[in-house]
Amino acid sequence: MACPARVICPTEGLPEGGKGARFAWPPAGGEGKGFVVRFAGEARAFVNRCPHLGVELDWEPGEFFEETGLYLVCSTHGAIFEPSTGLCVAGPCRGARLEAIAVEERDGLVQLIDDPPARPNGPGPSP
Ligand code: FES
Repeated sequence: MACPARVICPTEGLPEGGKGARFAWPPAGGEGKGFVVRFAGEARAFVNRCPHLGVELDWEPGEFFEETGLYLVCSTHGAIFEPSTGLCVAGPCRGARLEAIAVEERDGLVQLIDDPPARPNGPGPSP
């Protein structure tokens, strides 16, 4: 049975290149955190864990962009990430990526896609 998508925030709560929203990740428990920001008109979500040392990125809660609003930045050592891909383009973890989280915008809400569609040619049931 499909799980309902989980609401993170209203779409209007995510300004382009501005403050993002934090949320618990994974959705079913655990101590991790995710975050979502708006970039190039789309909601982009990632696990809030820097590939360098595993710490959270935001320099204030929900603040992930550097001053131009074009890149995400890690507050600890200043690694710079592309908001569209999560790729680190400068800093100590250059070439590594933030772990992306699937989200969608529907009915004015940014929502986690907790139950991604099954792959048509995926593995069958265990014997
Ligand atoms: S912990 Fe993020 S750049 Fe070092």
